[in-house]
Amino acid sequence: MSSNIVWHESSISKQERRDKNKHQSFILWFTGLSASGKSSVANAFARTLFDRGAQAFVLDGDNVRHGLNQDLGFNETDRKENIRRIGEVSKLFVESGQIVLTAFISPYRADRDLVRELVEKDEFLEVYIKCSIEECEKRDPKGLYKKARNEEIKHFTGISAPYEEPANPEIVLDTEKHSIDDCVKQLTKTLIEKGLI
Ligand code: PPS
Repeated sequence: MSSNIVWHESSISKQERRDKNKHQSFILWFTGLSASGKSSVANAFARTLFDRGAQAFVLDGDNVRHGLNQDLGFNETDRKENIRRIGEVSKLFVESGQIVLTAFISPYRADRDLVRELVEKDEFLEVYIKCSIEECEKRDPKGLYKKARNEEIKHFTGISAPYEEPANPEIVLDTEKHSIDDCVKQLTKTLIEKGLI
């Protein structure tokens, strides 16, 4: 960290922002293989939250890599830095009183756990978007699995790079067995039961 930098307290507290928004602020951390349905579920759920009057925003892997993280690739070091930066950005969203939905493969358990530790205990919910590699490869919406099999893409998650399943996720959504709509209903029910929305 640089020297000669001083932390400035905000004139508006996180609690004041939450009170105004009438909901808690937290991170819904979606993790799963490419084509598992992370972005689809996150975006569909963000729409549900928005329609309920909540402040919600999706940070998506592909999109963030077009801007903030355009200098990063897919080796282990770069993926770690990708998740570290998103963790810090997500913490700012929580501070601003919003619900942030992050849709990143985030293949390493240790990287996800580092984000968990960045915020308060009840401000991080890991949502495992469960789908077998066989099904993801069958879906292959961007043709990336095909390219990975042909070795046109290196370090491809599930093919030539690891994916570490969450050990104790708060929520598991199986997109092989359930539709996006059903996953959104399950998420809504869980968050209402937890008193978060
Ligand atoms: S990570 O692992 O969390 O840093 O990845 P993320 O930032 O979520 O970016 C994943 C999207 O990048 C595309 N892509 C790849 N994915 C995995 N492995 C390799 N090598 C790769 N190269 C490009 C792909 O479109 C991913 O999007 P999703 O939505 O997951 O399919």
